[in-house]
Amino acid sequence: MKLILLGPPGAGKGTQAKMLIQRYGVPQISTGDILRGAVKEGSPMGLKAKSFMDAGGLVPDEVVVGIVEERLQKPDCDKGFILDGFPRTVPQADALAGTLSSLGKNLDAVISLEVDIEALVARLAGRRTCDSCGAGYHVAYEPPAVDGVCDKCGGKLIQRDDDKEETIRKRMAVYNEQTSPLVDYYRNAGLLRTVDGMLPIDEVGVAILAQLKDFE
Ligand code: AP5
Ligand code: MG
Ligand code: ZN
Repeated sequence: MKLILLGPPGAGKGTQAKMLIQRYGVPQISTGDILRGAVKEGSPMGLKAKSFMDAGGLVPDEVVVGIVEERLQKPDCDKGFILDGFPRTVPQADALAGTLSSLGKNLDAVISLEVDIEALVARLAGRRTCDSCGAGYHVAYEPPAVDGVCDKCGGKLIQRDDDKEETIRKRMAVYNEQTSPLVDYYRNAGLLRTVDGMLPIDEVGVAILAQLKDFE
């Protein structure tokens, strides 16, 4: 199962990737998670990435392409992978094609989550993430049993630095300008499968699995 999850900020890429990795036993490769990890560690890459992320812009292509190239060569990717938040520009998509072909791999599909941008602002403003295990929640749509506490590990739920309304709007604009051309890019490559991302979380999952039946 070699997949890309494509969609604007808040479309549900991370939420659905968590379901898919359980189902298929392949790793989730989220460039956003990897970059946030580097920021938290204070590594040189994290220091470089932080200013771009806080401003709602994209981290330079060469940085993220390097991260993904390295990650795809790890043995746990032999059975497949779910790319979440990468590629995000046409040069990143071209670089990915080159990396995969040098590894002798092909993408199976690109799932495009179709969503209404205005609804996404509410999703992102209500998102909470466990500081210890990374589990995702939403204060209204996917609430934890106890406010502010992770159901899975008891960790503290925090809000992402870039989930402020002004930064969210900037991220949406960046998506429209730099990432949305990838919808046509992958449609032209014959890989695109669209899914209605406005359905409830479980139903989006069912719709994605229906699109992936041929690859199981
Ligand atoms: P990244 O972490 O990838 O953020 P993003 O693309 O902005 O997407 P999000 O993680 O915000 O949304 P999501 O689609 O995963 O939604 P989620 O499932 O959490 O990137 C962050 C930053 O890193 C970028 O801005 C950039 O600076 C940098 N970066 C990362 N990758 C890069 C790259 N390739 N190139 C350059 N820079 C890069 O869901 C959101 C909320 O909604 C949750 O609370 C969830 O519970 C809820 N929810 C989900 N689905 C539903 C549903 N169907 N109904 C109701 N609620 C739902
Ligand atoms: Mg995400
Ligand atoms: Zn947790």
